[in-house]
Amino acid sequence: MTATARPGTPLSTPSTSFPAGFLWGVSVGAHQTEGNNLGSDWWFRENEPGSTVRERSGDAVDSYHRWREDFDLAAGAGFTDYRFGVEWARIEPVDGHPSRAQVDHYRRMVDGAAVRGLRPLLTLHHFTNPLWFTASGGWGRTDAIPRFLRYIDALAPVIDAGVARVMTFNEPNVLATFPRIAAGRGELSEGLPEPDEVLARVLIETHQAAVARLRDRHPGVELGWGISVQDYRAAPGAEADAETYSETRDQQFVRAAVGDDFVGVHAYTGGLIGIGGKPVVDPHAERTQTGWAVLPDALGGAVRRVSRIAPHLPIIVTENGIATADDRRRITFTDAALASLRGAMDDGADVRGYFHWSLLDNWEWGSWSPRFGLVAVDPETFARIPKPSLAWLGSLGPVIR
Ligand code: BGC
Repeated sequence: MTATARPGTPLSTPSTSFPAGFLWGVSVGAHQTEGNNLGSDWWFRENEPGSTVRERSGDAVDSYHRWREDFDLAAGAGFTDYRFGVEWARIEPVDGHPSRAQVDHYRRMVDGAAVRGLRPLLTLHHFTNPLWFTASGGWGRTDAIPRFLRYIDALAPVIDAGVARVMTFNEPNVLATFPRIAAGRGELSEGLPEPDEVLARVLIETHQAAVARLRDRHPGVELGWGISVQDYRAAPGAEADAETYSETRDQQFVRAAVGDDFVGVHAYTGGLIGIGGKPVVDPHAERTQTGWAVLPDALGGAVRRVSRIAPHLPIIVTENGIATADDRRRITFTDAALASLRGAMDDGADVRGYFHWSLLDNWEWGSWSPRFGLVAVDPETFARIPKPSLAWLGSLGPVIR
Protein backbone atom coordinates (compact mmCIF):
# COMPACT_ATOMS: atom_id res chain seq x y z
CA MET A 1 0.00 0.00 0.00
CA THR A 2 1.14 3.48 -0.67
CA ALA A 3 1.00 6.33 1.80
CA THR A 4 -0.11 9.51 0.09
CA ALA A 5 -0.65 12.99 1.48
CA ARG A 6 -4.28 13.82 2.20
CA PRO A 7 -5.32 17.20 0.86
CA GLY A 8 -5.79 19.72 3.62
CA THR A 9 -3.50 18.04 6.15
CA PRO A 10 -0.64 20.26 7.25
CA LEU A 11 2.00 17.63 6.65
CA SER A 12 2.28 14.91 4.08
CA THR A 13 2.84 11.38 5.26
CA PRO A 14 6.28 9.97 4.45
CA SER A 15 6.64 9.66 0.71
CA THR A 16 7.81 6.03 0.89
CA SER A 17 5.62 2.99 1.47
CA PHE A 18 6.40 -0.29 3.19
CA PRO A 19 4.87 -3.76 3.02
CA ALA A 20 2.03 -4.86 5.30
CA GLY A 21 3.34 -6.21 8.59
CA PHE A 22 6.44 -3.99 8.52
CA LEU A 23 7.34 -3.02 12.10
CA TRP A 24 6.84 0.70 12.63
CA GLY A 25 8.37 1.89 15.84
CA VAL A 26 10.25 4.31 18.00
CA SER A 27 13.31 3.59 20.13
CA VAL A 28 14.36 4.84 23.53
CA GLY A 29 17.21 3.81 25.84
CA ALA A 30 16.60 3.12 29.52
CA HIS A 31 19.40 5.10 31.18
CA GLN A 32 18.87 8.01 28.79
CA THR A 33 15.20 8.42 29.64
CA GLU A 34 14.30 6.78 32.98
CA GLY A 35 16.29 8.97 35.37
CA ASN A 36 18.06 8.19 38.65
CA ASN A 37 19.61 4.92 37.60
CA LEU A 38 21.42 5.01 40.93
CA GLY A 39 23.02 1.59 40.93
CA SER A 40 24.67 1.86 37.52
CA ASP A 41 28.29 2.45 36.59
CA TRP A 42 27.35 5.45 34.40
CA TRP A 43 25.53 7.07 37.32
CA PHE A 44 28.67 6.65 39.37
CA ARG A 45 30.85 8.14 36.61
CA GLU A 46 28.52 11.07 36.09
CA ASN A 47 28.44 11.94 39.77
CA GLU A 48 31.93 11.20 41.07
CA PRO A 49 34.03 14.22 42.05
CA GLY A 50 35.97 15.51 39.04
CA SER A 51 33.79 13.56 36.62
CA THR A 52 34.72 13.96 32.95
CA VAL A 53 31.07 13.51 31.98
CA ARG A 54 29.93 17.03 31.12
CA GLU A 55 26.25 16.85 32.06
CA ARG A 56 24.55 14.36 34.38
CA SER A 57 21.58 12.25 33.41
CA GLY A 58 19.86 13.15 36.71
CA ASP A 59 16.11 12.70 36.41
CA ALA A 60 16.60 12.17 32.66
CA VAL A 61 13.08 12.66 31.24
CA ASP A 62 11.51 10.71 34.10
CA SER A 63 10.27 7.92 31.85
CA TYR A 64 10.63 5.56 34.80
CA HIS A 65 7.38 7.14 36.02
CA ARG A 66 6.01 8.61 32.78
CA TRP A 67 6.27 5.59 30.48
CA ARG A 68 2.46 5.52 30.11
CA GLU A 69 2.50 9.00 28.57
CA ASP A 70 5.34 7.95 26.29
CA PHE A 71 3.48 4.84 25.14
CA ASP A 72 0.31 6.89 24.61
CA LEU A 73 2.20 9.35 22.43
CA ALA A 74 3.71 6.61 20.27
CA ALA A 75 0.51 4.61 19.91
CA GLY A 76 -1.58 7.74 19.40
CA ALA A 77 0.65 8.84 16.53
CA GLY A 78 0.24 5.48 14.77
CA PHE A 79 3.33 3.52 15.77
CA THR A 80 2.84 -0.20 16.32
CA ASP A 81 6.22 -1.06 17.89
CA TYR A 82 8.18 0.35 20.80
CA ARG A 83 11.79 -0.37 21.66
CA PHE A 84 12.70 0.26 25.28
CA GLY A 85 15.24 -1.07 27.71
CA VAL A 86 15.47 -2.74 31.06
CA GLU A 87 18.24 -1.73 33.44
CA TRP A 88 20.36 -4.52 34.86
CA ALA A 89 21.30 -2.21 37.76
CA ARG A 90 17.63 -1.99 38.78
CA ILE A 91 16.82 -5.66 38.24
CA GLU A 92 19.88 -6.75 40.22
CA PRO A 93 20.90 -3.80 42.39
CA VAL A 94 23.07 -6.05 44.53
CA ASP A 95 25.08 -8.97 43.19
CA GLY A 96 22.86 -12.04 43.40
CA HIS A 97 19.79 -10.26 44.82
CA PRO A 98 17.25 -9.51 42.10
CA SER A 99 14.52 -7.03 42.94
CA ARG A 100 11.03 -8.47 42.49
CA ALA A 101 9.54 -4.97 42.62
CA GLN A 102 11.70 -3.82 39.70
CA VAL A 103 10.91 -6.94 37.69
CA ASP A 104 7.28 -6.08 38.31
CA HIS A 105 7.82 -2.50 37.15
CA TYR A 106 9.06 -3.66 33.75
CA ARG A 107 6.38 -6.37 33.57
CA ARG A 108 3.76 -3.62 33.99
CA MET A 109 5.38 -1.75 31.10
CA VAL A 110 5.07 -4.80 28.85
CA ASP A 111 1.42 -5.17 29.85
CA GLY A 112 0.92 -1.44 29.25
CA ALA A 113 2.38 -1.71 25.75
CA ALA A 114 -0.01 -4.52 24.84
CA VAL A 115 -3.01 -2.56 26.09
CA ARG A 116 -2.06 0.23 23.68
CA GLY A 117 -1.41 -2.08 20.74
CA LEU A 118 2.36 -1.64 20.90
CA ARG A 119 4.69 -4.61 20.43
CA PRO A 120 7.68 -4.29 22.75
CA LEU A 121 11.22 -4.79 21.53
CA LEU A 122 13.20 -5.09 24.74
CA THR A 123 16.86 -4.06 25.01
CA LEU A 124 18.63 -5.94 27.81
CA HIS A 125 21.87 -3.96 27.84
CA HIS A 126 22.37 -0.40 26.60
CA PHE A 127 25.92 0.70 27.58
CA THR A 128 25.28 0.58 31.37
CA ASN A 129 26.24 -2.09 33.89
CA PRO A 130 25.46 -2.36 37.58
CA LEU A 131 28.26 -0.63 39.46
CA TRP A 132 28.94 -3.79 41.47
CA PHE A 133 29.63 -5.63 38.20
CA THR A 134 31.98 -2.97 36.77
CA ALA A 135 33.75 -2.43 40.08
CA SER A 136 34.51 -6.12 40.34
CA GLY A 137 36.05 -6.40 36.86
CA GLY A 138 33.05 -6.00 34.56
CA TRP A 139 33.30 -7.87 31.28
CA GLY A 140 36.80 -8.93 32.33
CA ARG A 141 35.38 -11.14 35.11
CA THR A 142 35.83 -14.81 34.35
CA ASP A 143 32.18 -15.35 35.29
CA ALA A 144 30.81 -12.38 33.29
CA ILE A 145 28.72 -14.61 31.04
CA PRO A 146 26.98 -16.57 33.83
CA ARG A 147 26.38 -13.27 35.63
CA PHE A 148 24.61 -11.87 32.55
CA LEU A 149 22.60 -15.09 32.15
CA ARG A 150 21.48 -14.84 35.75
CA TYR A 151 20.16 -11.36 35.01
CA ILE A 152 18.32 -12.73 31.97
CA ASP A 153 16.79 -15.49 34.09
CA ALA A 154 15.51 -12.88 36.54
CA LEU A 155 13.75 -11.14 33.63
CA ALA A 156 11.60 -14.15 32.76
CA PRO A 157 8.32 -12.64 34.06
CA VAL A 158 8.96 -9.51 31.99
CA ILE A 159 9.67 -11.40 28.79
CA ASP A 160 6.80 -13.82 29.33
CA ALA A 161 4.37 -10.95 29.77
CA GLY A 162 4.34 -10.58 25.99
CA VAL A 163 7.66 -9.33 24.66
CA ALA A 164 7.78 -9.88 20.90
CA ARG A 165 11.49 -9.26 20.37
CA VAL A 166 14.60 -9.06 22.50
CA MET A 167 17.83 -7.26 21.69
CA THR A 168 20.56 -8.61 23.95
CA PHE A 169 23.02 -5.73 23.55
CA ASN A 170 22.70 -2.28 22.12
CA GLU A 171 25.72 -1.58 19.92
CA PRO A 172 28.28 -4.01 21.32
CA ASN A 173 30.66 -2.54 18.74
CA VAL A 174 30.40 0.86 20.44
CA LEU A 175 30.47 -0.67 23.93
CA ALA A 176 33.71 -2.40 22.94
CA THR A 177 35.31 0.98 22.24
CA PHE A 178 34.64 2.24 25.77
CA PRO A 179 38.01 1.12 27.08
CA ARG A 180 39.51 3.32 24.34
CA ILE A 181 37.32 6.40 24.73
CA ALA A 182 36.45 7.41 28.26
CA ALA A 183 33.55 9.57 27.11
CA GLY A 184 30.67 8.40 24.93
CA ARG A 185 30.29 8.32 21.22
CA GLY A 186 28.46 11.65 21.00
CA GLU A 187 31.91 13.25 21.30
CA LEU A 188 33.07 11.83 18.00
CA SER A 189 32.69 13.67 14.77
CA GLU A 190 34.10 11.20 12.29
CA GLY A 191 34.38 7.45 12.43
CA LEU A 192 34.45 5.02 15.31
CA PRO A 193 37.51 4.01 17.33
CA GLU A 194 38.61 0.43 16.83
CA PRO A 195 36.82 -1.88 19.29
CA ASP A 196 38.93 -3.55 21.95
CA GLU A 197 39.40 -7.05 20.54
CA VAL A 198 39.22 -8.89 23.86
CA LEU A 199 36.05 -7.11 24.90
CA ALA A 200 34.55 -7.64 21.44
CA ARG A 201 35.12 -11.38 21.79
CA VAL A 202 33.57 -11.50 25.28
CA LEU A 203 30.51 -9.59 24.09
CA ILE A 204 30.07 -11.89 21.11
CA GLU A 205 30.29 -14.95 23.36
CA THR A 206 27.90 -13.39 25.86
CA HIS A 207 25.41 -12.56 23.13
CA GLN A 208 25.52 -16.09 21.76
CA ALA A 209 25.09 -17.61 25.22
CA ALA A 210 22.21 -15.21 25.90
CA VAL A 211 20.47 -16.13 22.66
CA ALA A 212 20.80 -19.83 23.47
CA ARG A 213 19.39 -19.27 26.95
CA LEU A 214 16.49 -17.13 25.73
CA ARG A 215 15.65 -19.56 22.92
CA ASP A 216 15.51 -22.34 25.43
CA ARG A 217 13.39 -20.47 27.99
CA HIS A 218 11.25 -18.26 25.76
CA PRO A 219 10.56 -20.02 22.47
CA GLY A 220 8.78 -17.81 19.99
CA VAL A 221 10.45 -14.57 21.05
CA GLU A 222 12.55 -13.12 18.21
CA LEU A 223 16.16 -12.57 19.22
CA GLY A 224 19.00 -10.44 17.96
CA TRP A 225 21.33 -7.56 18.78
CA GLY A 226 21.70 -4.05 17.44
CA ILE A 227 24.88 -2.94 15.69
CA SER A 228 26.03 0.57 14.86
CA VAL A 229 26.59 0.31 11.11
CA GLN A 230 27.58 3.54 9.41
CA ASP A 231 27.84 3.82 5.66
CA TYR A 232 31.60 3.95 5.30
CA ARG A 233 32.92 3.34 1.81
CA ALA A 234 36.40 3.11 0.31
CA ALA A 235 38.09 6.21 -1.07
CA PRO A 236 39.78 5.41 -4.40
CA GLY A 237 42.64 2.98 -3.81
CA ALA A 238 41.66 2.32 -0.15
CA GLU A 239 39.47 -0.75 -0.75
CA ALA A 240 41.49 -3.09 1.48
CA ASP A 241 41.78 -0.49 4.27
CA ALA A 242 38.04 0.19 4.16
CA GLU A 243 37.30 -3.51 4.35
CA THR A 244 39.52 -3.91 7.44
CA TYR A 245 37.93 -0.82 8.95
CA SER A 246 34.43 -2.23 8.57
CA GLU A 247 35.36 -5.77 9.52
CA THR A 248 36.65 -4.75 12.94
CA ARG A 249 34.15 -1.92 13.56
CA ASP A 250 30.91 -3.68 12.67
CA GLN A 251 31.04 -6.67 10.33
CA GLN A 252 32.43 -9.12 12.89
CA PHE A 253 29.43 -8.27 15.10
CA VAL A 254 26.95 -8.66 12.25
CA ARG A 255 28.41 -12.06 11.33
CA ALA A 256 28.08 -13.12 14.97
CA ALA A 257 24.32 -12.64 14.59
CA VAL A 258 23.97 -15.15 11.76
CA GLY A 259 21.43 -17.70 13.03
CA ASP A 260 19.59 -15.10 15.13
CA ASP A 261 16.10 -14.00 14.17
CA PHE A 262 17.24 -10.52 13.22
CA VAL A 263 20.09 -8.09 13.37
CA GLY A 264 19.33 -4.53 14.40
CA VAL A 265 20.98 -1.87 12.24
CA HIS A 266 21.68 1.56 13.75
CA ALA A 267 22.57 3.91 10.93
CA TYR A 268 23.11 7.66 11.16
CA THR A 269 25.92 8.77 8.90
CA GLY A 270 28.79 7.64 6.72
CA GLY A 271 31.75 8.80 4.71
CA LEU A 272 34.91 7.68 3.03
CA ILE A 273 37.72 5.61 4.48
CA GLY A 274 41.08 6.63 3.08
CA ILE A 275 44.42 4.90 2.66
CA GLY A 276 45.67 3.87 6.10
CA GLY A 277 42.12 3.18 7.30
CA LYS A 278 41.31 6.69 8.52
CA PRO A 279 37.98 8.39 7.80
CA VAL A 280 38.38 11.24 5.34
CA VAL A 281 36.98 14.38 6.97
CA ASP A 282 34.86 16.35 4.53
CA PRO A 283 35.22 19.99 5.63
CA HIS A 284 32.19 21.00 3.55
CA ALA A 285 29.76 18.41 4.91
CA GLU A 286 26.65 19.73 6.58
CA ARG A 287 26.76 18.48 10.21
CA THR A 288 24.22 17.54 12.85
CA GLN A 289 24.32 18.66 16.49
CA THR A 290 26.48 15.62 17.21
CA GLY A 291 28.94 16.63 14.49
CA TRP A 292 28.00 13.82 12.13
CA ALA A 293 27.83 14.45 8.38
CA VAL A 294 24.19 14.76 7.27
CA LEU A 295 23.81 11.77 4.96
CA PRO A 296 20.26 10.40 4.93
CA ASP A 297 21.14 7.82 2.27
CA ALA A 298 23.53 6.25 4.77
CA LEU A 299 20.60 4.18 6.00
CA GLY A 300 20.16 2.45 2.64
CA GLY A 301 23.93 2.07 2.29
CA ALA A 302 24.33 0.49 5.73
CA VAL A 303 21.47 -1.93 5.13
CA ARG A 304 22.86 -2.93 1.74
CA ARG A 305 26.25 -3.72 3.27
CA VAL A 306 24.71 -5.78 6.08
CA SER A 307 22.61 -7.75 3.65
CA ARG A 308 25.70 -8.37 1.49
CA ILE A 309 27.75 -9.82 4.33
CA ALA A 310 24.87 -11.73 5.99
CA PRO A 311 22.43 -12.40 3.15
CA HIS A 312 19.98 -14.63 5.05
CA LEU A 313 19.77 -12.59 8.22
CA PRO A 314 16.59 -10.49 8.54
CA ILE A 315 17.29 -6.84 9.30
CA ILE A 316 15.35 -4.49 11.55
CA VAL A 317 16.42 -0.85 11.56
CA THR A 318 16.41 -0.32 15.31
CA GLU A 319 17.89 3.20 15.21
CA ASN A 320 17.99 5.98 12.65
CA GLY A 321 17.51 9.68 13.17
CA ILE A 322 19.15 13.08 13.33
CA ALA A 323 20.23 15.44 16.11
CA THR A 324 18.77 18.78 15.10
CA ALA A 325 16.85 21.65 16.66
CA ASP A 326 15.02 22.12 13.35
CA ASP A 327 12.17 19.64 13.15
CA ARG A 328 11.59 20.36 9.44
CA ARG A 329 15.10 19.15 8.84
CA ARG A 330 14.29 15.98 10.81
CA ILE A 331 11.34 15.34 8.51
CA THR A 332 13.33 15.96 5.33
CA PHE A 333 16.19 13.82 6.57
CA THR A 334 13.95 10.95 7.66
CA ASP A 335 11.94 11.02 4.45
CA ALA A 336 15.14 10.68 2.42
CA ALA A 337 16.48 7.99 4.77
CA LEU A 338 13.28 5.97 4.34
CA ALA A 339 13.49 6.33 0.56
CA SER A 340 17.04 4.93 0.65
CA LEU A 341 15.83 2.09 2.88
CA ARG A 342 13.02 1.28 0.48
CA GLY A 343 15.55 1.31 -2.39
CA ALA A 344 17.70 -1.25 -0.56
CA MET A 345 14.62 -3.42 0.04
CA ASP A 346 13.64 -3.20 -3.62
CA ASP A 347 17.11 -4.47 -4.42
CA GLY A 348 16.60 -7.49 -2.18
CA ALA A 349 17.52 -6.51 1.39
CA ASP A 350 15.29 -8.40 3.82
CA VAL A 351 14.23 -5.56 6.13
CA ARG A 352 11.40 -6.25 8.57
CA GLY A 353 10.94 -2.93 10.30
CA TYR A 354 12.03 0.60 11.17
CA PHE A 355 12.39 2.16 14.64
CA HIS A 356 13.17 5.87 14.80
CA TRP A 357 15.72 7.21 17.27
CA SER A 358 14.20 8.64 19.25
CA LEU A 359 10.70 9.19 20.56
CA LEU A 360 11.98 11.77 23.05
CA ASP A 361 14.69 14.37 23.31
CA ASN A 362 16.85 12.72 25.94
CA TRP A 363 20.22 12.52 27.64
CA GLU A 364 22.87 11.93 25.02
CA TRP A 365 25.66 10.29 27.03
CA GLY A 366 27.02 13.39 28.74
CA SER A 367 25.07 16.12 27.02
CA TRP A 368 21.53 17.42 26.92
CA SER A 369 22.15 19.49 23.77
CA PRO A 370 21.54 17.04 20.89
CA ARG A 371 17.84 16.85 20.00
CA PHE A 372 17.01 13.49 18.49
CA GLY A 373 13.35 13.41 19.58
CA LEU A 374 10.03 13.43 17.79
CA VAL A 375 8.85 14.87 21.10
CA ALA A 376 10.48 17.61 23.18
CA VAL A 377 10.47 17.43 26.97
CA ASP A 378 10.24 20.40 29.33
CA PRO A 379 13.26 20.00 31.65
CA GLU A 380 11.38 21.29 34.68
CA THR A 381 7.90 19.84 34.39
CA PHE A 382 8.80 16.87 32.15
CA ALA A 383 5.80 17.82 29.99
CA ARG A 384 5.96 16.08 26.63
CA ILE A 385 5.64 18.46 23.69
CA PRO A 386 5.13 16.62 20.40
CA LYS A 387 6.92 18.04 17.38
CA PRO A 388 5.31 17.93 13.92
CA SER A 389 7.62 15.01 13.02
CA LEU A 390 5.77 12.74 15.48
CA ALA A 391 2.46 12.87 13.63
CA TRP A 392 4.23 12.91 10.28
CA LEU A 393 6.23 9.74 10.88
CA GLY A 394 3.56 7.96 12.89
CA SER A 395 1.03 8.48 10.12
CA LEU A 396 2.57 5.66 8.12
CA GLY A 397 1.76 3.17 10.90
CA PRO A 398 -1.92 2.64 10.10
CA VAL A 399 -1.05 2.36 6.42
CA ILE A 400 1.32 -0.56 6.79
CA ARG A 401 -0.57 -2.40 9.52
C1 BGC B 1 22.91 4.74 20.86
C2 BGC B 1 22.04 5.75 21.55
C3 BGC B 1 22.46 7.15 21.16
C4 BGC B 1 22.28 7.30 19.68
C5 BGC B 1 22.61 8.68 19.17
C6 BGC B 1 23.33 5.11 19.49
O1 BGC B 1 24.70 5.01 19.47
O2 BGC B 1 22.35 3.47 20.92
O3 BGC B 1 22.15 5.50 22.91
O4 BGC B 1 21.74 8.09 21.87
O5 BGC B 1 23.10 6.39 19.00
O6 BGC B 1 23.94 9.00 19.42
